[in-house]
Amino acid sequence: MQEIIMPEWISVGVLSERTGVSVSALHFYERKGLIKSQRNTSNHRQYPKHVIRIVSLIQVAQRTGFSLEDILLEFEGLPNRTRVSLEDWEALGSRWQSELDRKITQLTELKSMMADCIGCGCLSLEKCQLLNPYDELGNKGTGPRLMTE
Ligand code: FES
Repeated sequence: MQEIIMPEWISVGVLSERTGVSVSALHFYERKGLIKSQRNTSNHRQYPKHVIRIVSLIQVAQRTGFSLEDILLEFEGLPNRTRVSLEDWEALGSRWQSELDRKITQLTELKSMMADCIGCGCLSLEKCQLLNPYDELGNKGTGPRLMTE
């Protein structure tokens, strides 16, 4: 069987086909600064083929609840954004794992608070942990804290 050799540069259509991400979403990623293209002599966008891996990483990160802004910040920490090495992936994975653990803890607490509030509905600033956890507003001072922040 003959090996298929990918060209060094690929069109937005090929990138879309290889990643399953729509062309409009890829253009959006580019406007956000997550991926970069260059124009060929026909003024069509071309992407280096390693962008397939970058787009795949964006998809994984989005599926695990990260915003595009979070992802952009993480990508800025990569020493060499032209390629994502195994070491880059391990570093990203480790940071994302910690962030996921933090989100799980936060959501578990929120779920517990919500369970206490279901059927109550008071939304009291003094006692409702969902509306005013640990009386954070009271600790910030007196007066209409929600109106002034
Ligand atoms: S709604 Fe009553 S305690 Fe949260």
